[in-house]
Amino acid sequence: MASWVIMELDRNSSNWTKLIEGIVRLEKKIFPKHESLARSFDEELKKKNNGLLYSEVDGEVTGYVMYSWPSSLCASITKLAVKENYRRQGLGEALLKAAIQKCRTRNVHRISLHVDPLRTPAMNLYKKFGFQVDNLIEGYYSSDRNAFRMYMDFDTN
Ligand SMILES: CC(C)(COP(=O)(O)OP(=O)(O)OC[C@H]1O[C@@H](n2cnc3c(N)ncnc32)[C@H](O)[C@@H]1OP(=O)(O)O)[C@@H](O)C(=O)NCCC(=O)NCCS
Repeated sequence: MASWVIMELDRNSSNWTKLIEGIVRLEKKIFPKHESLARSFDEELKKKNNGLLYSEVDGEVTGYVMYSWPSSLCASITKLAVKENYRRQGLGEALLKAAIQKCRTRNVHRISLHVDPLRTPAMNLYKKFGFQVDNLIEGYYSSDRNAFRMYMDFDTN
């Protein structure tokens, strides 16, 4: 399995614009409009409690994961995507693992996320990490697309 270098998006980095452009390009390709953050990435990422990790090959973004920690108690994985021709090589797993580690450094009790139950690869990946289904939220993405809310709890004692 390939080993991936996962990097953290730095708000002050000189290549911020180029990176965001690469991520937005991928986002548009992978997610339907109503599920896409393409129009609001820049804004989202400038918020204080948001982070983004990504991987690159030859200057091209190959995958990214976004997370946020709205409170000291919980964090959420808000986005995860791998470019199609880089899938099934462990990159999704590496990104998710790195994001969980970042969230855990904040001592949160719970990490949660939303996922369309029809996204089998993602569902399998989250289950493999031990995420459990909390409940089904009907019409979460659009009138005919639901989401599972999933969570993983940590013992913080
Ligand atoms: C979900 C996604 C990020 C996985 O990325 P990836 O780099 O291909 O994943 P990995 O190679 O690290 O695979 C890790 C695990 O995910 C699951 N998985 C990945 N692809 C799968 C597939 N095509 N079918 C079934 N399970 C799959 C498996 O459990 C796999 O573990 P295994 O290799 O031990 O079987 C990628 O498929 C993707 O970008 N999908 C579209 C966007 C999406 O659905 N995002 C999540 C919703 S926000």
